Amino acid sequence: MKSKNQAPILEAVDLTKHFHVGSFFSRRIVKAVQDASFRLYPGHVTALVGESGSGKSTVIRMLARLYEPTSGRIIFKGQDTTEIRSRSQMLQYRSEVQMIFQDPFSSLNPVHNITHHLRRPLAIHGKLGSRAESKDRIHALLKRVALTPVEEFAAKYPHQLSGGQRQRVAIARALAVEPEVMLADEPVSMLDVSIRLGILNLMAQLRDEQRIAFLYVTHDIASARYFADETMVMYAGHIVEGAESEQLIRDPKHPYTQMLLASVPDPARGLRTQEIEIRGEIPDLTKLGPGCPFAPRCNRAMDVCNTAMPGRTELPGDRWVRCYLYEGYGAAKPAGEPVVAAPQGTP
Ligand SMILES: Nc1ncnc2c1ncn2[C@@H]1O[C@H](COP(=O)(O)OP(=O)(O)O)[C@@H](O)[C@H]1O
Ligand SMILES: [Mg+2]
Repeated sequence: MKSKNQAPILEAVDLTKHFHVGSFFSRRIVKAVQDASFRLYPGHVTALVGESGSGKSTVIRMLARLYEPTSGRIIFKGQDTTEIRSRSQMLQYRSEVQMIFQDPFSSLNPVHNITHHLRRPLAIHGKLGSRAESKDRIHALLKRVALTPVEEFAAKYPHQLSGGQRQRVAIARALAVEPEVMLADEPVSMLDVSIRLGILNLMAQLRDEQRIAFLYVTHDIASARYFADETMVMYAGHIVEGAESEQLIRDPKHPYTQMLLASVPDPARGLRTQEIEIRGEIPDLTKLGPGCPFAPRCNRAMDVCNTAMPGRTELPGDRWVRCYLYEGYGAAKPAGEPVVAAPQGTP
């Protein structure tokens, strides 16, 4: 798989987040993310696809160190980030791992012009230099995200920009500190369909030219196929399947992924012609049992599915799935040998 024959830059190991909600008398636990494990590689885009409420943003926020994980580890360049204690080390981590948010309208301050927005990260991370140098840097950043003529855009205010242009400023701001990882949380979902492709192409260019590792969170499986080298599918706090994007869409293994793709009109037509979005119901994350959360909706569920979440089964083709069907249950197959995915709709 592209760019994967190198060391991962960021790794999540059994990452778990439980939120405690409600009052003292009606305390409930929202199991937002459970045992998420994956690796991000330089020059490689990994998509995390799931319905609204499946835990995608919580994964991103833990990686950005905005939420403290309930358990699990985040390894950056071989170092466990939960061991980071000093402010300067945290600042360093936050410059190397940048976030891009969904809403380009609220992420920019309306009272400041674009120069100000780009100067700030440079100043915070000590990369401003002399007056002339900082101007050059800001202009180079604007050029990199194709906001030209640069002098003109540098002087503009957020309200003078379109949604797509604002997202480009947000990307330029993230780039200012020369990050190695970008965590993009639904970066195009609030933009007009007509300009989404331009932003995805810009990010693809940053992946290829600057070897940035991307985690691309989306509920739009077609854009994952377009932009991501690898795609992981999340359901009710669990990442249930991961594979090279094209493989995942052509030959989904997990019954949930199969259901998602069965509801998509024609995935082969891709992003340009078809808006593909995930729709469905996520179970109440405060009432999850010990088993697979998809079991109540799964047309291939077995008794074992309600006992415990299955572990990860590695399948041929550098892909994996968390489903008992591939552990040899439910079919006259020896354990470990993958069951050929049934055509959609067959019980
Ligand atoms: N700060 C929080 N406090 C309590 N519950 C939260 C918090 N953040 C997210 N959640 C809950 O965690 C679950 C996953 O949310 P989120 O990660 O935002 O999902 P997604 O990004 O996939 O839509 C939801 O049930 C949400 O209500
Ligand atoms: Mg979200």
